[in-house]
Amino acid sequence: LDNGLMRTPPMGWLAWERFRCDIDCDNDPKNCISENLFIDMADRLFKDGWKELGYVYVNIDDCWASMERDKQGRLQADPKRFPGGILKLSRYMHDRGLKLGIYADMGTHTCGGYPGTPLDKIKIDAQTFADWEVDMLKFDGCYSDVMQQEEGYPLMSMALNATGRPIAYSCSWPAYQGGLPPKVNYTQLGEICNLWRNYGDIQDSWDSVLRIVDWFFENQDILSAAAGPGRWNDPDMLVIGDFGLSIDQSRSQMALWAIMAAPLYMSNDLRTISNEARAILQNKMAISISQDVSGFQGRRIVKEKSGIEVFWRPLSKNTSALVFFSRRTDMPFRYKTSLSRLNYESGSYKVIDVFTDKSVMLKDSTYFVVSVNPTGVVMLYLSAPAKLNPRLFY
Ligand code: DGJ
Repeated sequence: LDNGLMRTPPMGWLAWERFRCDIDCDNDPKNCISENLFIDMADRLFKDGWKELGYVYVNIDDCWASMERDKQGRLQADPKRFPGGILKLSRYMHDRGLKLGIYADMGTHTCGGYPGTPLDKIKIDAQTFADWEVDMLKFDGCYSDVMQQEEGYPLMSMALNATGRPIAYSCSWPAYQGGLPPKVNYTQLGEICNLWRNYGDIQDSWDSVLRIVDWFFENQDILSAAAGPGRWNDPDMLVIGDFGLSIDQSRSQMALWAIMAAPLYMSNDLRTISNEARAILQNKMAISISQDVSGFQGRRIVKEKSGIEVFWRPLSKNTSALVFFSRRTDMPFRYKTSLSRLNYESGSYKVIDVFTDKSVMLKDSTYFVVSVNPTGVVMLYLSAPAKLNPRLFY
């Protein structure tokens, strides 16, 4: 969507995968969906170096609303859990250079059973979100049918635009249509949404991450063509820092999400996250690959019988990224290849290992070996070397 927003994939934090619909603030006050949770996460983003790296969105998901609309028919936040209302939260974010995202659903109810935003409520809800100074809307699709979605998703895009407030728009529409053409029209999605969920929900497990990776790269021809500045495929949240992924698997999610030019929304507990997980999520080179201005969505270029796969993303200024990923479950696999085998032009390249920071110069024809751990990755950032100073030749 050409509204000037999200020219690179958005980064931030989203409540759903980690905190779900926990509304039991009496017994679980630290983890329930309440203004305190979003304030806690905003404080961490602000104080622990996340914001400077680009993690600026704090996104509310389902279960924030009161079961009743107000007398004017507007959505309202649950008064017990959000006593200050949503406007207070937006202001809290804006005062710290952060942004607030909110959630609604195009059907009669949200997936969690809270009030929905059917067709006749779209305008009023868009205006309410603008009045609350919200910066992003995720528009889910539970309890709506194909016809309503066809009308509702474009209508919400127009309604948000009509408020005059820049509000990024995330559409769950394609996930409810099976994710693929002819049912999904990616040209239209790129025109009306800044990002869209194509596929099922991520869970806190390697199995789930792998299912998502498989689907996205099996359909890479369709999906890569749809992505670019202002319009992104969304393979769902980063679960790095939760319970299901090992360190190697966490690096794999980070690397592959960066290759895919995917939104980087963490869903974890930033108050208790381990140093190892934080280091992966805060890896500057992985982030700069994700945030490359070209906005090109990378692809899988090699699938070996051995279980090694190679992914590639071209980046601006003649640089690029490579990821070597292992599906093996035995031991680190020593994979031998050369840049020319991976279709690189002849020449020499400066190659930096994203997770160890080691760098080497490599000629296209030189064979090299990467050692890839089971379910892990080796991620490389490549650039043509700086030209030698010509004076050195005299
Ligand atoms: C389905 C979405 O895909 C999830 O990301 C989450 O928003 C839930 N609905 C909330 O009910």
